[in-house]
Amino acid sequence: MAGYRAQRRLPGGYTERMPVTLRSHAKINLGLAIGPVRPDGFHALATVYQTVSAHDLVTVEIMRRGNSRPWIELTCNDPRVPRDSRNTVCRMLSLALDLPGREHLAARVHIDKRLPVQGGLGAGSANAVAALAGLERRIAAAGLAPALTGEQRLRLAAEVGSDVPLFLLGGAVLGLGRGENVVPLQDLPALSAVIALPDTGVSTPAAFRDWDRAQASLGLTPQDETDRLSRLSRALAAAWCEPHTSGIFAHRGEGRAGTLLSSLVQTGILLNDFEQVVFRQHPFLETIKRSLAGQSSGHPAVYAALSGSGSAVFGLYADQDGADAAGQRLNTLGVRALRAQILDRPAYWSGMVVRED
Ligand code: C5P
Repeated sequence: MAGYRAQRRLPGGYTERMPVTLRSHAKINLGLAIGPVRPDGFHALATVYQTVSAHDLVTVEIMRRGNSRPWIELTCNDPRVPRDSRNTVCRMLSLALDLPGREHLAARVHIDKRLPVQGGLGAGSANAVAALAGLERRIAAAGLAPALTGEQRLRLAAEVGSDVPLFLLGGAVLGLGRGENVVPLQDLPALSAVIALPDTGVSTPAAFRDWDRAQASLGLTPQDETDRLSRLSRALAAAWCEPHTSGIFAHRGEGRAGTLLSSLVQTGILLNDFEQVVFRQHPFLETIKRSLAGQSSGHPAVYAALSGSGSAVFGLYADQDGADAAGQRLNTLGVRALRAQILDRPAYWSGMVVRED
């Protein structure tokens, strides 16, 4: 610690000359079961997050903290993005720069927004993790403070939001608790994704409230809701285990990683509970899902669903032809679409840093 203190001054000329630009990848949800409301007001849930290649770009610079300027400055090419403490990037960096030994540091961040705001793709959460990764990289390169431990990073991320920690793992990630308890899963193959971006914003807290009202009107008990989480967790554990059972149990699918998703889809368990409330309010989103699923086309999706609370809806396809055909169907509906690929953990990390001066 004493040795590190000696290096704490920012080297002269360092300011604003060493930006790092990182990809801030989106996620989709492969199934999302909503459980009962917890004492802290959040909902218990179970989901599989999967990172995809679609991304924003986040550029981070660090500088000496001065009295005349804010110590976290945020700019963005999209005027809908808040630039104050409502932004996950500001919340993440103020936590990270508030740690002992970092009182002298300030940060400037620019978000080049390509993903939708309020899209259910976790874009704001991913921005926060990219900003943290950029900050830590610059701090480490200049030897300005000790590196955070992995556990510290996960704790800060969970403080910022329920779907922030997943971006510290990347790839296929099991999300439990309120979504912030994350466990890495064996990666899925790089399926092609088509992500529909309708012009509809869905508020996640409002979608949770609608869900609660719907459950209450059905007379469901907290136990019924807990059972839903357990069913999804069991199905996921069984599916991810199957390829490794060496034929000891007879199983239905081929049991290879390539068929893991299809065997899960066949169980009928891989549903996103938010669809029940969000599709009722925005019926066009269900039309989009049906179009992406393409059941009566020659190229049906392996899986199609709402992502998080929406409004993005995605389809996953075994080959490019399937994705091309889905893209054309969306075009006919007049819906904007992003083409992407499922991004496994090694690809997520190896492609993260775009430019470093
Ligand atoms: O954690 P995050 O800030 O992303 O959550 C936003 C809002 O979504 C929360 O304030 C809460 O209303 C709702 N939420 C919830 N249960 C979760 C996650 C989020 O009720 N598991």
